[in-house]
Amino acid sequence: MNLVMIGTGYVGLTTGVGFATLGHQVACVDIDAGKVARLDRGEVPFYEPGLQEALKHVQEKGRILFTSDLKSVIGGAEVVMIAVGTPPKSSGEADLTALFAVADQIGSVLDHEAVIATKSTVPVGTNRIVLARVREAMRAAGREELTSLINIVSIPEFLREGSAFEDFLQPDRLVIGSDDRVAAQITERLHRDIIAPRVMTSLESAELIKYAANAFLATKISFINEIANLADRVGADVRHVAEGLGHDHRIGPHFLKAGVGYGGSCFPKDVSALEQISGAHGYAFKLLSAVIEVNNRQREMFFKRLVEELGGVRGRRVAVWGLAFKAQTDDIRESAGIEIAQRLHATGAELCVYDPQAMNNARAVLSPHVEFAPTAMDAAEGADALVVLTEWPEFREVSFSTLHDRMLEPRIFDGRNHLADLHLENQGFIYRGVGLGSYASA
Ligand code: UGA
Repeated sequence: MNLVMIGTGYVGLTTGVGFATLGHQVACVDIDAGKVARLDRGEVPFYEPGLQEALKHVQEKGRILFTSDLKSVIGGAEVVMIAVGTPPKSSGEADLTALFAVADQIGSVLDHEAVIATKSTVPVGTNRIVLARVREAMRAAGREELTSLINIVSIPEFLREGSAFEDFLQPDRLVIGSDDRVAAQITERLHRDIIAPRVMTSLESAELIKYAANAFLATKISFINEIANLADRVGADVRHVAEGLGHDHRIGPHFLKAGVGYGGSCFPKDVSALEQISGAHGYAFKLLSAVIEVNNRQREMFFKRLVEELGGVRGRRVAVWGLAFKAQTDDIRESAGIEIAQRLHATGAELCVYDPQAMNNARAVLSPHVEFAPTAMDAAEGADALVVLTEWPEFREVSFSTLHDRMLEPRIFDGRNHLADLHLENQGFIYRGVGLGSYASA
């Protein structure tokens, strides 16, 4: 089939390359001409395992192209998919400026029957507005008679950064929301080769499923973080508690890793947006407010403990391992590593940081006084404390005896419990995780 994908962020690009991999003909459109030029040369502008190779493959097959000119590729498109960002406003509400601009643009150039498919995460009710705007722009362009042939589907994405391409090919489910049976069938045909349960539903339900999924996962994380805080006080180990919970099929083992809380471009944004959507409909979603509060407190508590145990950080040398919001990505949006590094720096610590992928992105936001080390070991040289904030596998592979020798004080504060099973206390380290019972009152 012929697909136009608008927006080449990690969702749009991964999905576009994914559909091309499945044999469809895909035109990816982005207003950023520099990005289009890079993609055209086969360069993925962010780190996403497997995507670079997949892009190369579909480019060689001639199944994908990149352009800034929607008009030049819209002819013949059976599906026009929108995957532009919906970043949060300061109120928590999703900013739909880019989405609506795209809707208007589609309407101004669309001259044949097509399905509009929304991938972007949007508040409940938005797809109807998008469709109305597309049709309005078509009318303004003198194509009133075609408006009834244009319909919309909501197909929310559930891709995780770091495994997005794999998640595209092997999703847990496909959600297709539409009022129009034909539009839903065409969308289903586009996904024909993807084996997964289908949830065929209304626009509103599809829109809400996306927020509910992220909010539920965030709730699991905040829940286990609350248990971790209690575990610290009662001398229990949250990892064992999570294991004991996870074997229960009704609970499941995933998203029960305690730590400094969730970050990234999705959970913080979507949980706040759902709280905001609820409020706008006159409903106080109390659980969600608590999930957000717990998540904020988690970082705060970790930072406070670090400062307290060091007896203040002014003038102390602190190493930070991990700046990406999680491993296998270079994304630093709402990252605990960045926030804690910024706070350490602001409180007067002498800071040296390292991340295997996120250094360039971090340089753009951290103070020029922060040192960037070429390796994890170099970052820890002469440090009074080492703070671990992203669970990169390579952090487990360093020589801990060398690390011990190179640090001024062998103290590790692990915000992910990433090194907890290495029993570093036995190698002379003072090791602190989250919820490992380290703060039990006597
Ligand atoms: C998340 C969802 O998992 C995807 O399904 C969804 O499509 C995506 O948001 C989105 O809405 O676009 P992502 O943000 O890539 O994906 O990252 P996750 O792997 O879900 O992790 C989110 C945060 O939670 C990270 O900071 C991670 O470190 C943290 N986390 C995750 C925990 O603290 N504990 C856990 O047990 C799991």
